[in-house]
Amino acid sequence: MKKCIAVLAGDGIGPEIMKEGLKVLDAVAKKFDHTFEYKEALVGGCAYDRYGHPLPDETKKICNSSDAIYFGSVGGPKWESLPAELTPERGALLPLRAIYGLFANLRPAVIFGPLADAASLKSERLKGGLDILIVRELTGGVYFGKNKVKSLILKEGAVQGDYAVDYMIYSVTEIQRITKIACEAAMKRNKKLTSVDKANVLESSKLWRKVVIDYVQRNYPEVQLNHMYVDNAAMQLATNPKQFDVIVTENMFGDILSDLASAITGSIGMLPSASLSETGFGLFEPIHGSAPDIAGQGKANPLAQILSGAMMLKYAFGLNKESNAIEQAIMGVLEDGYRTGDIASVGTPKDKILSTSSMGDKVAEYLHKLKF
Ligand code: IPM
Ligand code: MG
Repeated sequence: MKKCIAVLAGDGIGPEIMKEGLKVLDAVAKKFDHTFEYKEALVGGCAYDRYGHPLPDETKKICNSSDAIYFGSVGGPKWESLPAELTPERGALLPLRAIYGLFANLRPAVIFGPLADAASLKSERLKGGLDILIVRELTGGVYFGKNKVKSLILKEGAVQGDYAVDYMIYSVTEIQRITKIACEAAMKRNKKLTSVDKANVLESSKLWRKVVIDYVQRNYPEVQLNHMYVDNAAMQLATNPKQFDVIVTENMFGDILSDLASAITGSIGMLPSASLSETGFGLFEPIHGSAPDIAGQGKANPLAQILSGAMMLKYAFGLNKESNAIEQAIMGVLEDGYRTGDIASVGTPKDKILSTSSMGDKVAEYLHKLKF
């Protein structure tokens, strides 16, 4: 199979983990006889520095002519005080999600067996591992509702100042289409779906709950559905994560809960994601940010980036065997005790603590050794 991939490494640790992601894709290509053509483009702060915009036309052109987007991470203190529309997040990442209609964000939170000791929860709560799928709505809600900043002047002598508004807005069709994605995923798993909202306070959440109930009843009667307020869901995730199978939730709640889920699995450096459109076009990126504090030091964990590559093979190209091979290779590497610093424990021998690039090498080496 021949596929063309837009490679948008971005800022901070983005370029160094992307290098490892491509290394592993190359190993897959070699082993399974595929051709992956990479078209690299700048995105985020580095694109702003070079072209004056975090999402230059050149980058969009490359994405338009590719079969999938492989994304690193964007942002950093250097660009935080730019006008909102020029920041890496608001000027590049969110527009990419909007332009390509990437409404369905799949964030699997899986504990690789050998990493149970790196997880933040006591191991008895994680006995038998953990495998949750968070389905986050990605192109609606408060991230994309109108916002404004206004000056507020109350009566003389009273409080004066600015105020800012962000609208959290959802339509029935937006809720239905993400519910469908979550139900389809649940049907392939344990058929359990938890919808997370804040229906005791927010109108958009009341609508969310109503639509989810109606949609699941009519279309997926086999799916066992329950509902949780987001505050409770956070507590439940932190204390009893094994009760979950698939979680479906709106954009901001999904952002927050997926970071929490990553902490439970051991490190934010382990969690990949797939953002998909109705046509199946997708962007694949780790859920973590650009970690400017450790950029360029060879300390970053490349596994979330590598696993995002595995998601790309599966969801964008239908290459399930190849995708599983990456996961198996990672499992082998972890079983043999290799760690990056973030997932090492006190007992990890020094010679098994790997740099970013040595971890990429190890995964590629183990992949090569797998028998098919
Ligand atoms: C994520 C990130 C982004 C988000 C930021 C970088 C805008 O936190 O993908 O989870 O909030 O969606
Ligand atoms: Mg986030």
